[in-house]
Amino acid sequence: MASTYLLIPDDFTPAPSLLPERIVGFEAVTGFSSDLGAVAYAVTTDGGVAAALGLDRDALARAGFEGKPGQTLAVPTAEGPAVYVVGAGAEADVTTDSLRDVAANVARAAATHARIGMSLGPLGDVDRETVGQLVAEGMLLARYRFSELKTDPKVTPLDAVEVLVGAADVSAVTDGFARGVITARSANLARDLANTPPGHLTATVFADLALSLAEDFGLEVEAFDKQQLFELGCGGLLGVNAGSAEEPRMIKLRYTPAGESTGHLAMVGKGIMYDSGGISLKPSDPMHLAMKMDMGGAAAVFAALTALRDLGCTTTVTAFLMCTDNMPSGSAYKLGDVLTIRNGMTVEVKNTDAEGRLVMSDGLVLATEEEPDAVVDIATLTGAALVSLGAATAALFGNDQAIIDQAKAASAATDEQVWQLPLEKKYRKQLDSDVADISNLGGPYAGATTAALFLNEFVGGLPWAHLDIAGTMQSETDDSWRSKGATGFGARLLIELALAFEKIR
Ligand code: BES
Ligand code: MN
Ligand code: ZN
Repeated sequence: MASTYLLIPDDFTPAPSLLPERIVGFEAVTGFSSDLGAVAYAVTTDGGVAAALGLDRDALARAGFEGKPGQTLAVPTAEGPAVYVVGAGAEADVTTDSLRDVAANVARAAATHARIGMSLGPLGDVDRETVGQLVAEGMLLARYRFSELKTDPKVTPLDAVEVLVGAADVSAVTDGFARGVITARSANLARDLANTPPGHLTATVFADLALSLAEDFGLEVEAFDKQQLFELGCGGLLGVNAGSAEEPRMIKLRYTPAGESTGHLAMVGKGIMYDSGGISLKPSDPMHLAMKMDMGGAAAVFAALTALRDLGCTTTVTAFLMCTDNMPSGSAYKLGDVLTIRNGMTVEVKNTDAEGRLVMSDGLVLATEEEPDAVVDIATLTGAALVSLGAATAALFGNDQAIIDQAKAASAATDEQVWQLPLEKKYRKQLDSDVADISNLGGPYAGATTAALFLNEFVGGLPWAHLDIAGTMQSETDDSWRSKGATGFGARLLIELALAFEKIR
């Protein structure tokens, strides 16, 4: 249960992005209707300017608008809808990423409007269904705000979008809208969960939410409480939970395709509902309010699964969300304690703030027991990932280049950037322990790698990819499709990975 002192309103939902009133109507049109509040034109740096705008390139240039990516200009008008131009870059540089960004920048430029029309400019060789998906994603992700706990949210919800297309493209673009609405809804669900305060979204609340939503999204779900976790031998998750007044939960989900299954992927997500560091308490720092997002991996996995049936995924997916907070107290796990993971391996705790790998090891063992074709895990695991790659790019590791390459392809399709780092086996001895099979702390350098080497011990040699999203879990600013706050990073990447998954060996 969430703490009663928080006086959480009865109608509070940690998943507002799923509310039916949030549905935005996207329509591909060959001419705008008359009731739009705003119309936006994408303009390249070099191609023609839409005649309907009534301004030529010189006029735009006099106002300082060249059409560079990210540029926007409000064009004053005497009557009719508000008009905006949005930079689309050079015509030859049109990509899936640039189209998604243009749509996002339209949504931001016309932020005070609920009904928006958009002319996209050149589409390059991007197939038209994908165009529709990118537009829906860009607009819905950019318009996202977590305003559930504001009395006056002061945001204009998006209501309807019309996109101008050639008559021959109406049908394909419309199909793409339906897909983009689903992928953006997933990413925004992951954001909701990560933005929700830790007292509002405890492990128990997360499990109850999964139990109540699973059927709607065609998923099987089981939630395991503390007693059941003892019976399963999940000593990593229980050890981290020991200091908390809140019970842990392991949430197991399964998506089974309606027709023949083309493969089986297991996913594991880190669900630290709040990471105080435990007895190895994090030093006082305002940044640590971001540790409510330490369940961003679990949120991304759960959110991704909610999209699979509706997108016709043919891969079976089994998921494990490892949920607890990490708190100091009289009952907390201590430095020097030895935890026994589900596979019987013992771990000496040298730092209680390296808790992610402890809960993930139980999850990875459970995942391997399903005998999947591959395992992928996602975790806000190390500050070192943030230090090495910053907030734009997640660290990618693995033991098998084929599954790593599939993760890279999913990353490229979704603009959730990753960079592969080496799983350098030379550093494995940094994890040696005098008293247990392994310790949870590496040396001072390559912290993302030593954490990945720890996880590698629990995947039983199955093809495995690991995403460390500590850097990418949040955005400091509104930046194209990334809205300030939790990014939902990984939800769209995991959807794409499952959709395109191919068995490895
Ligand atoms: N949740 C943190 C990692 C993190 C840091 C996520 C910054 C997002 C932003 C993780 O549990 C942690 O505390 N890691 C430690 C590990 C260390 C003690 C080996 C870290 O990275 O400092
Ligand atoms: Mn930690
Ligand atoms: Zn953590």
